[in-house]
Amino acid sequence: MSEPTKYALPEDRIPTSWVNLIPDLPGEPLPPLSPATMEPAGPPDLAPIFPMALIEQEVSGEPEVEIPDEVREIYSLWRPTPLFRARRLERALDTPAHIYYKYEGVSPAGSHKPNSAVPQAYYNREAGTRKLVTETGAGQWGSSLALACRLFGLECEVFMVGVSYDQKPYRRAMIETWGATIHRSPSELTEAGRSQASHPSGSLGIAISEAVEVAAAAEDTNYALGSVLNHVCLHQTVIGQECIEQLELAGEYPDVVIGCVGGGSNFAGVAFPFLRRRLREGGATRFVAAEPSACPTLTRGEYRYDFGDTVGMTPLMPMYTLGHDFVPPELHSGGLRYHGDSPLVSALVKAGVVDAVAIAQTSAFAAAIRFAETEGIIPAPEAAHAIRAAIDEAEAAKEAAEERVILFNLSGHGHFDMSAYDAYHRGELADLEFSEADMEAALARLPETPAIA
Ligand SMILES: Cc1ncc(COP(=O)(O)O)c(C=O)c1O
Repeated sequence: MSEPTKYALPEDRIPTSWVNLIPDLPGEPLPPLSPATMEPAGPPDLAPIFPMALIEQEVSGEPEVEIPDEVREIYSLWRPTPLFRARRLERALDTPAHIYYKYEGVSPAGSHKPNSAVPQAYYNREAGTRKLVTETGAGQWGSSLALACRLFGLECEVFMVGVSYDQKPYRRAMIETWGATIHRSPSELTEAGRSQASHPSGSLGIAISEAVEVAAAAEDTNYALGSVLNHVCLHQTVIGQECIEQLELAGEYPDVVIGCVGGGSNFAGVAFPFLRRRLREGGATRFVAAEPSACPTLTRGEYRYDFGDTVGMTPLMPMYTLGHDFVPPELHSGGLRYHGDSPLVSALVKAGVVDAVAIAQTSAFAAAIRFAETEGIIPAPEAAHAIRAAIDEAEAAKEAAEERVILFNLSGHGHFDMSAYDAYHRGELADLEFSEADMEAALARLPETPAIA
C-alpha cells in the first residue's frame, strides 16, 4: 500500500480561472460566418440565442477567464475530481508505461458535461433568461443542463437524439428528475424536426436544429450547446488544470495526453492547459484525439466552413466536417455521433499539434471491459475510445521498452449505457460502416464558402 493510487486535491484547489487557448493558437483565428450573408458573424448574429457574457468568451483574446464564485461553489459538489494511477491495468498489460486517468464520472450527471452546463446556466440567469433549450446525444449533456437549470431556477427543454432516446430510458428519467422537459428528436414540434422525419434515428445535428429553432422563436429563451463552441472548451479546462497539479503530486509530466472526441470539449478540457505549455515553451508532449471510425470527422472529414446543425440555422464554423446533413450510423457512443468538431481542436489537428486516431466500436468496448476488469469503473462508451488509445500507447511503450507517462480523460461512467454492454456481451455489437459516398454527397450539398488555407 506504499504507492498511491489516487491523487486528490482539496476544494480550495478548484481552479479560479479557465484557460483560454485562443491567444496561443498557431495562426489567426478564423471567424464564424453568418448563415444569411456568408460574411463574418458578429455578436448580433449570436445574441438571439446566447447571453453576451458567453458571446464575449467565445471570442475572448484573454489568456484566462475568471470563474465566478457561485460557479466554483457548485463545482465543489464534485470537484476537484480524482486523478488515478491505473496500476492494476498497467500490471495486466505488463507495460513499463505509467497510466494516469482523470475521472470525470464523479459529477452528479456522471460526466464532464456539468463543467460547462453550470456556467452556461449561471450566465443565462445573470442575463435574465427564463428558459434554456438544448439537444443531447447519449443524454449526458441533457441531464447536466437539466441539473444546472434546476440549480439556477431556469426552465429547461431537451431534444434527445431518437436512437439514444430509445436506448437510454433511464437518462430520460434522470433529465425529468431534475425538472426538464424532454422530446424525442426528430420531433413533430419544430419545422426542423418535421423536415427530418425520414431520419427517425436522429442525429446531434438534427436535434441542434430543433433546439435552436425553439430558442430563436422566444425572447426569454436561449440555446445552450454541450460541446464544439470555444466557450464550452474554455469551461472544461478545469480538468487539465487540476491534472497538472495532481501529476505534480505524483512527480510526473505526461508524454502523451489522450481524450475521446465527439465535439471536442472533454479533449479540450484535459489537453488545453498542457497544450498551452507546449505551444509556449515547447516540449515533446503528444496529444491524441480518439474518435469513432463510424463517424471519423478528424481523420477523414474535410477541413472547411460548415453549419453546426443539420438544417443550416447556426453560423458556419471552420472545422473538420463530414457534411452537416450527413447522418452518422447508429453508434452506441451517442455523444460521438456528430458531423463536425470544435474549431479550436480542428485548427490544432490541422496545424499538426494534435494527432487524431479512429477507433472501431468493438475495439473500444473490448478496451472498456479490460478497464472494468482491472480498475473497476465501467466507462461510458464514449470514454472507452480514449481507453483504447491509452492501451495502444501502453502496448507501444512496452514494445519500445519505454517508461512512457500516459494521461487520459475518463470522461464519464457507463451506468446508463448498459444496453450497449449487453449488446456487446451477446455478440450483437457490430463495427458500423462509415459511408464515404454519403459523406461526399453531404459535402457536395454545402454552400460556397471562403476556402481555408
Ligand atoms: C461521457 C462522454 N464523453 C465524451 C463525450 C463527447 O463529447 P465531447 O467531445 O464534447 O467531450 C460525451 C458526449 O455526450 C459524453 O457523454
